[in-house]
Amino acid sequence: MKATGKIGIAADIAMYAIMLVQMFYIFTGNTVHEITGIAFFVCLTVHIIIKRKHIKAMLTGKLKNAGKAQKFSAFVTCLLFVSMILLMLTSMGVSRLLFPWFKFLQSPDLHRCLAAAVFTLAAVHGGMHFYIRTVKKKRAALLITLIAAACLALSLFGPPYINRHFRIVKVDHAKAVQGEKVQWNGKKPLVVYFTRLGNTDFDDDVDAVSGASLMYADGVLTGSDQLIADMLKDMLDCETVPITLTGEKYPSSYGATVSAASKQLKNDARPEIEPIDVSDSDSIILVYPLWWGTVPPPVSTFLESTDLRGKTIYLVATQGSSGFSKSTGDIKKSASGADVKEVVSIYCEDIPTCRDTLLQHIKKIAP
Ligand SMILES: Cc1cc2nc3c(=O)[nH]c(=O)nc-3n(C[C@H](O)[C@H](O)[C@H](O)COP(=O)(O)O)c2cc1C
Repeated sequence: MKATGKIGIAADIAMYAIMLVQMFYIFTGNTVHEITGIAFFVCLTVHIIIKRKHIKAMLTGKLKNAGKAQKFSAFVTCLLFVSMILLMLTSMGVSRLLFPWFKFLQSPDLHRCLAAAVFTLAAVHGGMHFYIRTVKKKRAALLITLIAAACLALSLFGPPYINRHFRIVKVDHAKAVQGEKVQWNGKKPLVVYFTRLGNTDFDDDVDAVSGASLMYADGVLTGSDQLIADMLKDMLDCETVPITLTGEKYPSSYGATVSAASKQLKNDARPEIEPIDVSDSDSIILVYPLWWGTVPPPVSTFLESTDLRGKTIYLVATQGSSGFSKSTGDIKKSASGADVKEVVSIYCEDIPTCRDTLLQHIKKIAP
């Protein structure tokens, strides 16, 4: 194989690899996303230079006598090229680091749709080279269709899924938190909550590593579970207290937090927290995010290091799909002597708008 052929293949592989990395923007951060984006277009330029004769033949109509497969392949190539140009323009539009001066096509949604189109068309484009050469046409066609469907599904549903869990959410605090009150006869409950915020060392570029755990309420960084605690405070006119680590905090990267939590759970770790005085309360509303299907280790520290005998603990969980999972059972084991009751488990995307749902559930448990 000629050196140009090898360079061409290397550029193609690099482009596919970069596209995959680009999809995990939330883990790699904005700087890596923008720089690898530039690398992608450099590889594309190399690809176009190497394939210039074929492109010229395609554009000058020399494919007139070509078979249906060649014509379809040429059509996909043209579509891919147009999508890539538009993707490049939207990349500049949404860029914060390298092209902040580019004020056109600033739609992140359009950028994501074009990225999905490019990812899928690139798979079909590569597949068509294979189809044209192989004799097993039916098998090749099926394979290309399946790969294209998988690429489309991954690129359409993957990033939105990641976004749902990890994107920055902007909330009007008063709108999200204030509303109808609930009468709670007897001693007011104490709301104890755990959130990544306040328990994480964030980088300066916090936007690049944010999680569902992060939202801006009136421009102030607010934990999702903290927002729920604020809703309960407004609803019940009660006190709220965060579970706060005293030692090492969680890393700012979501992925690193997931690994750190996994390690802690495997080791049954009980990270130290600031003591919480619950002696004045008969009932506690515990607000926590599900971590690996259970409570975050600092919540276990709270449950095991606090005298909860005779108290009722009402559970409000937040999660990315798992309901209460095994957290209720684990809390019952940790909070010895307490009566533990599930209230509601809230899907993370619904947190900013969950006040009404929360209200209905709190009304049911209020004495
Ligand atoms: C370390 C870690 C593990 C998680 N594990 C789960 C899980 O097992 N199931 C689930 O549905 N969500 C899981 N999530 C998603 C969180 O429950 C969700 O992001 C939560 O609502 C965020 O609340 P916060 O902002 O107060 O931290 C996990 C999140 C983190 C950070």
